[in-house]
Amino acid sequence: MARIWNFSAGPATLPVSALERAQKEMLDWAGTGMSIMETSHRSKEYDQVHNEAADSFRQLLKLDDDFTVLFLQGGASQQFAVLPMNFLPAGGSADYVNTGVWSKKALAEAKVLGNAREAGTAGPDFTSVVRKDGLDLDPNAAYVHFTSNNTIKGTQYYEIPDCGSTPLVCDMSSDFLWQPFDANRFHMIYAGAQKNIGPAGVTVVLLRKSWLEKANQDIPTIFKYGIHAENNSLYNTPPTFAIYIVRNVLDWVKAEGGLEAMERRNREKGDLLYSAIEAHGDFYRCPVEKGSRSFMNVVFRLPTEELEAKFVAEAKAAGLSGLKGHRSVGGCRASIYNAMEKAGVQALVDFMEGFAKTNG
Ligand SMILES: Cc1ncc(COP(=O)(O)O)c(C=O)c1O
Repeated sequence: MARIWNFSAGPATLPVSALERAQKEMLDWAGTGMSIMETSHRSKEYDQVHNEAADSFRQLLKLDDDFTVLFLQGGASQQFAVLPMNFLPAGGSADYVNTGVWSKKALAEAKVLGNAREAGTAGPDFTSVVRKDGLDLDPNAAYVHFTSNNTIKGTQYYEIPDCGSTPLVCDMSSDFLWQPFDANRFHMIYAGAQKNIGPAGVTVVLLRKSWLEKANQDIPTIFKYGIHAENNSLYNTPPTFAIYIVRNVLDWVKAEGGLEAMERRNREKGDLLYSAIEAHGDFYRCPVEKGSRSFMNVVFRLPTEELEAKFVAEAKAAGLSGLKGHRSVGGCRASIYNAMEKAGVQALVDFMEGFAKTNG
């Protein structure tokens, strides 16, 4: 088996056991004589997988009974629009905390639909998150929106600030389930699966059912959270195969020891990589403030862009792929989501040390 270490920001590396399970079940799934991709989303066999995936989120996050777990399509980007469609009331306003590109995009979509304000910014460089003292919150806002991890700039909230009684909404696309956290503080959490929890094609939305009473009704049916909640995400055909893989990934998370184990793993990997960057401070540089450094996306610079290009190419040849920074910012980025093994980060650190010695 020729698997490389894949540091892509997403779609990203997945646990081998989740893939092997799919491989084993590919042609004859659950004794049906067909693959899950070929199975009706209304069948009892599919229903079991669908509900197992949703139940795993409930278990891992200890969600209270008010939460519904939705499997939607259109990526996290679609949620940027669907959230305000549902919960930005006419004449009301919503607060958005700007920690970079993704939160800006979320804010821009809300502004298309109504009043939305920037309730704090980490700009212009976005090298940290916005802490509580940088927030300018409207106590009457319909909700306040955060992005927990800036995938591009490599910043992360280790904990979302307290915003009083305003409904809290968070885009956790790039660090969902990286550690245990109190999900019950939130009114809504959403995440495109393709980084930490599965393949592209499904977006997980955890939503308080009680909030649905306030949802706008004058929007197309397909965009109503309420319709998807009433129909257990089976109002229309859901992305069945992607949900099946999410189920496999969550079973892996549980088998590894749950979110506590994920956090231990992630902190070990992050500490290893950031320490290597610090240890070679004359060659590698992480532009992110220490208290905001992401445990999911580690960004770093080399002395010149030429050296960065050489680093990415030589790393790839050495079996370490996906290390090029986002096209909007350049530099290097190692995405080390839950499924990345510590051995992969160790291999990267070893490569970095050799590269610094040869080129420094
Ligand atoms: C934090 C964050 N939010 C939203 C998105 C957009 O996700 P999608 O491509 O699923 O729409 C991304 C994609 O990288 C992301 O990192």
